[in-house]
Amino acid sequence: MGKQNTQAENKPEHIVVVMDGNGRWAKKRFMPRTAGHKAGVKATKEVVKACVENQIKVLTLFAFSSENWKRPEQEVSSLMELFLTTLQSEVNELHEQSVRMRFIGECSAFSDKLQNRIKQTEELTQNNSGLCLNIAVNYGGRWDIANACQMIAEKIESGEITSKDVNAELVNRYVAVSDLPEPDLFIRTGGDKRISNFLIWQLAYTELYFTDLLWPDFNRGELNEALTWFANRQRRFGKTGDQIGQANKVNC
Ligand code: FPP
Repeated sequence: MGKQNTQAENKPEHIVVVMDGNGRWAKKRFMPRTAGHKAGVKATKEVVKACVENQIKVLTLFAFSSENWKRPEQEVSSLMELFLTTLQSEVNELHEQSVRMRFIGECSAFSDKLQNRIKQTEELTQNNSGLCLNIAVNYGGRWDIANACQMIAEKIESGEITSKDVNAELVNRYVAVSDLPEPDLFIRTGGDKRISNFLIWQLAYTELYFTDLLWPDFNRGELNEALTWFANRQRRFGKTGDQIGQANKVNC
């Protein structure tokens, strides 16, 4: 867990995004919130393409939180429809670009149709070697940690391990996307400066980037701005700035 950022490694391996502001984008235009989500898909496509071109290893997008079920029923069902149609229309192109798609969260809460589409998408793209695109749906960071604890508790119950084996490294093995590089850069659009229960375990050492832009207005230029900001961050992982400076001199 944890790694050191050197000057040569100033591109994030793993970017995570909270795509916020679709509703406000639509409201400003006197349009229904669902129009904002549709515009959000367009921005999502552009950002995915830019990540493929920039050879980013992993992109994790927060598409639907476990708390989003509290929204008006009509908005929830139109979001589900949008996920389904977007997967249907985009999966072949993503596959051609060698994108590997995975879904994290409690997918069992979705309709059979959506679950099947998710499964087919994961199966079709599982051997791709390009961008790893994770879509968090019905995901919550607390659920993720509790889920990991449950799996560990089962291992203890079955005698495979004992309570003494439980440490941060073990828990880390059971949370979502832990087989991938840890998130380096977190981006949140929409002006709020909070994590909103997204990947709370995984974000321990992630650089946090917030922008007032609403998600449908986010594009490749804005992504480049976030990447430039990230390139200038000094990642210390608990060490001092001097220690990092020394290590960089040795590595250069
Ligand atoms: C938050 O904005 C956005 C969402 C809850 C949905 C995000 C989904 C997409 C952009 C579609 C992506 C599609 C795929 C298949 C990945 P908000 O509605 O909370 O905006 P507000 O804060 O302005 O109300």
